Amino acid sequence: MTFAVKEISPAGAAEITGFDCRVPTGAADLARLKQAFLDWPILCIRDQRLTPKQQATFARQWGALERQDRSTYCHPDDPDVLILSNERRADGSQVGIVDAGDFWHSDSSHIGEPCRMTMLYSVKNPDKGGDTHFINMYQVLDALPDALKQRVAGRNAIHHVAKTLNPRVTISAEREGAADYYKSREKATKPVSQPIVRTHPETGRQALYISPRFTIAIEDMDDREAQPLLDDLFRHMFSNPAWQYTHKWRDGDLVFWDNACLNHMAGGGYEYPDTRRMHRTTIVGDRPFYRAA
Ligand code: OGA
Ligand code: MN
Repeated sequence: MTFAVKEISPAGAAEITGFDCRVPTGAADLARLKQAFLDWPILCIRDQRLTPKQQATFARQWGALERQDRSTYCHPDDPDVLILSNERRADGSQVGIVDAGDFWHSDSSHIGEPCRMTMLYSVKNPDKGGDTHFINMYQVLDALPDALKQRVAGRNAIHHVAKTLNPRVTISAEREGAADYYKSREKATKPVSQPIVRTHPETGRQALYISPRFTIAIEDMDDREAQPLLDDLFRHMFSNPAWQYTHKWRDGDLVFWDNACLNHMAGGGYEYPDTRRMHRTTIVGDRPFYRAA
């Protein structure tokens, strides 16, 4: 295939045109795409028309797909495809997850082996809103003041899925049962320790690996010290718009991103019956680690 790769943001995004995900990717093309993914951790392949099965087949060329535990929102045509949507059926029930990604995070950092990459395919965009925001955490770490770097050196942070344990987030009223769900996770889910500075498994570059959504504490540090430190780190993370990229979706975009060096967030700003529908596949990842440069 003769496809083009073009940078669309210095925060690490590129778009790919002239590519057809329905055709098995040849070895040379896959190698080129994989290199592009290391150079730009946010890639957008434009103008696709993918069934859930075709999306999953494309995604499996990048690694094993994660099994989705929220089976009610899996696509009936392929259980590895999760539906994110604000659509409702005639009986009022929800078709997909409505509040996915509503705070800044890196996907599944609250589990021991978070997913390596996430692929989101845009089936239907709302007339307004529905953007996805990204922050390049390599750039955030590179610019971290030395004093803060020293305070986090060699440390791990605690990540947890329960929103009820995290004062930096709130629970969306739009999702039925969300408050009970998170309450039930408080004790049923073990907290996970992750390096605050994460070494990328392929590029070897270091990135800051914490998020307002999942990071709730710092290991072996009293909260009186840890919470203000986290606040300082998050303030720094948001301090330069040049580290951010906002994706304005077109129907048929397939966007995939690297969870080892990015935070992202759903921007919201749309309301039913203006619908947004995404199909999501995630690639299995390894245990995050830190290795001195
Ligand atoms: C996700 C996610 C954001 C969005 O799928 O992991 O955070 O804009 N999605 O849908
Ligand atoms: Mn996400």
